[in-house]
Amino acid sequence: GRERALIRESWQRVSGSPVQHGLVLFTRLFDLDPDLLLLFQYNCKQFASPQECLSAPEFLDHIRKVMLVIDAAVSHLENLSCLEEYLHNLGKKHQAVGVKVESFSTVGESLLYMLEKCLGTAFSPDVREAWSKLYGAVVKAMEHGWEA
Ligand code: HEM
Repeated sequence: GRERALIRESWQRVSGSPVQHGLVLFTRLFDLDPDLLLLFQYNCKQFASPQECLSAPEFLDHIRKVMLVIDAAVSHLENLSCLEEYLHNLGKKHQAVGVKVESFSTVGESLLYMLEKCLGTAFSPDVREAWSKLYGAVVKAMEHGWEA
């Protein structure tokens, strides 16, 4: 359908430079919720500032991982259920590192922010709506990984 075409077209403009766009997303995320910085620890080491985190190689790898998951969702728009089990396990891993389900809405806001910055006037209300739905579906599948 038309929504899928909007997603594919807009993702094409983002996916060519995933780290650059991922940095916009996570910079926004840490602005909105600075406490999330504490959850990113590599070798038990805490980052002193968002800037330090945003330039760490391990964190840049996490950005690549996030962008790959979104890329997989965009490639499987017709059959997102293929990713169900993967996303369920991914949810479990995030629960284990201390992420709260609620934080995924802040990630969603940051994703829309990044898309708006990247797409400019091409970020129409229809494009926003299509992305909200797709992101919502990904999060819903990940949420199955949380145990009460
Ligand atoms: C792994 C934190 C959001 C995809 C991890 C790890 C941490 C983490 C600490 C383990 C270390 C690492 O691999 O770098 C967070 C936090 C998030 C967040 C605090 C937001 C509140 C996301 C989102 C996605 C994602 C939105 C994708 C849609 C992944 C993937 C891995 C990962 C694919 C690797 C899992 C594996 O090793 O199999 N995340 N993450 N993360 N994250 Fe996230």
